[in-house]
Amino acid sequence: MAKTPFPLVPTIGTIPEGQIIGREDDIVKLLRLLRAQSISVEEMRRMGKSLLLLKLAYLCNKGLLPDEFKKDNFKAKYFSFQGQQDLGQLIKLLMEGLEDFKDWYQIDFSKTYEFVRGIFAAPEISVGEAKIHLNLPEYKKSWKDIFFKTLEDISTAQEKADGRLILIFDELPIMLWEWYKEGKHEEAMELLDILRERRQALEKKGIRFIYCGSIGIKVVLNTFRKDFKYTGEPTNEMVEFNLNPFSEAESNFLCECFILSGFKIMEEGKAESLKLVYNLSNGLPFYMSTLFNLLATDFNYQVDEATIREAYRLIINDPRHHKAFKQLIDRLEIYYPDDKKDEMIKLLNLISRQDDFIDEDSLHTQLDIDNKESLKESLYTLYGDHYLVRELREGKRFYFFKYPIFKEWWKINRA
Ligand SMILES: Nc1ncnc2c1ncn2[C@@H]1O[C@H](COP(=O)(O)OP(=O)(O)OP(=O)(O)O)[C@@H](O)[C@H]1O
Ligand SMILES: [Mg+2]
Repeated sequence: MAKTPFPLVPTIGTIPEGQIIGREDDIVKLLRLLRAQSISVEEMRRMGKSLLLLKLAYLCNKGLLPDEFKKDNFKAKYFSFQGQQDLGQLIKLLMEGLEDFKDWYQIDFSKTYEFVRGIFAAPEISVGEAKIHLNLPEYKKSWKDIFFKTLEDISTAQEKADGRLILIFDELPIMLWEWYKEGKHEEAMELLDILRERRQALEKKGIRFIYCGSIGIKVVLNTFRKDFKYTGEPTNEMVEFNLNPFSEAESNFLCECFILSGFKIMEEGKAESLKLVYNLSNGLPFYMSTLFNLLATDFNYQVDEATIREAYRLIINDPRHHKAFKQLIDRLEIYYPDDKKDEMIKLLNLISRQDDFIDEDSLHTQLDIDNKESLKESLYTLYGDHYLVRELREGKRFYFFKYPIFKEWWKINRA
């Protein structure tokens, strides 16, 4: 894999697939897991999930994987489910995406087409040679069957290809949440059920799924359980994959690429400057990009210890840069009931003022919360949602912010 830095303009938007930095180790880990099962990737917003998965798909499909994966014959297709309104749109998205698969496996969609035509006679989207219209009431009744059938066709073709096909469903939980908010929870549960029902059968034929999202699918499921007595376990046999920040080597490489796009830096002190970027950004590529954007706009492309520290100060203090931090509050407000939300915010306020890990009992005594069980639960949620890290010391649970940059922001702007 290319290890020579190339010019890369810092962006908090998207990056061409071939230029996504680092993540080689994560991709190896993901693929080793995918040999045997499907995966769920859940991390906060802006951590680099989508770019990781886009790079994974790119390396698979271009034949650029490390040698250990040659015999696995991995292929992958990335879908973003963001903004898909209903199962009909989702099927359309999948079918259109499947055009790519045709090159790989010559999928025969005639069965699906026949099936669709059997139900409904005035088609309007392309399926091979044919066109189907997807929003008529007759069609709606059969979405489930058609979705099922589409997956079946893919897996039949896949079985012949003797490899593994990874279907990446990015933003699945958010989409389900949107459906829920719009009163389309039945459709959401239906989709979850199809995916659960089919996953095992499809996995046998070499299909693997990656569900990815910035809110956990757990959050969606808990709400469905509570509001609609939903009992499905759609992600039970999926391994949860945690995305880590960049290693120092990845961070340095990204800095080198940014620098080549027109930044000024002296050889002397360069290593220290790069280390400072790594430490202040906590290795989070989003904050590295934000930092370099600021070095360009507010510091005339000058990179040294002083400008890096100033840029960091702006990130923490200037409301212009607070949008990404606000997700820390938003996700608590949107996805959790009010009493839980308030408790979690109190906890984060208190923990953000600590210099070191703090234990559960101290949190309990310092906070005005009677119900110790509830406090425990909130801490566990914050831990599971990647706000906090936990350590066991002499049998006691101690907590601290996972990312110092979030702690700083929270302390200065919220606590
Ligand atoms: N591997 C990478 N190489 C370079 N930049 C990256 C990388 N990963 C993340 N970034 C930076 O972080 C930003 C966010 O990345 P990405 O969109 O992949 O995150 P995400 O976790 O999918 O976020 P969201 O939850 O909002 O969808 C990118 O726009 C880019 O600036
Ligand atoms: Mg994303």
